[in-house]
Amino acid sequence: MCYDDADGTAGRQEAGPESPSRRAFSRLLLAGTGLAALSACTPAQSFTPSGTPGPTPGTGTGSSTPTAAAAASTPPASTPSAPVPESTPAATQTATPVPPSAAARPPSAAAPGPQHSLSDPTSPWVIVNKHRPLSPATFVPPDLARPAVRLATSGEAALVNSTTAAAAERMFAAAAADGVIITLASGYRSFATQRATYGSYVNSRGQAEADTASARPGYSEHQTGWAFDIGDGSGADAFTPQFKDRPAAIWAKANAHRFGFVVRYPWMLHEITGYFYEPWHLRFIGKEAAADMRARGIGTLEQYFGLEAAPAYR
Ligand code: DAL
Ligand code: ZN
Repeated sequence: MCYDDADGTAGRQEAGPESPSRRAFSRLLLAGTGLAALSACTPAQSFTPSGTPGPTPGTGTGSSTPTAAAAASTPPASTPSAPVPESTPAATQTATPVPPSAAARPPSAAAPGPQHSLSDPTSPWVIVNKHRPLSPATFVPPDLARPAVRLATSGEAALVNSTTAAAAERMFAAAAADGVIITLASGYRSFATQRATYGSYVNSRGQAEADTASARPGYSEHQTGWAFDIGDGSGADAFTPQFKDRPAAIWAKANAHRFGFVVRYPWMLHEITGYFYEPWHLRFIGKEAAADMRARGIGTLEQYFGLEAAPAYR
């Protein structure tokens, strides 16, 4: 059984069959466990009218040990580039400009198409991770829209921003034309919803485990409107690492870049992204950047945009 990318995308670390990380992860799976603990995302079934989604405590979680899995995993094969400031401090702007060296330029600097802000939450390149909270923390996308796609959720979770909605409609239609059903399982989450979601994880598993799977309020891509989770309509393997073997995830992994999306939290790159594998979590960054990132074999947005790894909150 392979938990890594079938196409061997470079930049994603593969754990060999006998590696400690694989054994730890296999134990996790065989325990039938706590795969929900690896998911920060909210199955439609747990969405309540009060808008307080979250995992159902005690449902198939048992002895989940994602933290142990993380501890057993070896460091990623590649490390992110040195951090690159997004803007030059005013005090240094009058100094003699020094051309950035090739090494200091992130791969994204050579992306075809326009460059975008990494901080503005309305930018398709905004990077939100454990080192980079949303600003403002209570940001609400101004253009939330419900995409005309197969929904497995309702309420605010059925929304994304308008650009993401249009791209999702194209992607889901292309998948359907290939005979693959993809559902929108969880889209936008407000600050308050993310607080409830994260709080549910903390209550059921403790903060350390919660932090491997669920973003703290103000730190979730779901709040930006640029990200959503997919399912396949069956509920099988939903929000578990095994979802990667479902046709929807296989199709998305192979094709999402064509529509501007990346799988944001790849296998074994949690030391960079801060989260365990989420083959269901897609993030829009635009077609040019997504295709460029894939062509370069880069697994994380942190690496592509030359930002420091964000394995933990500061
Ligand atoms: N599952 C991702 C990390 C989130 O909670 O935003
Ligand atoms: Zn997600």
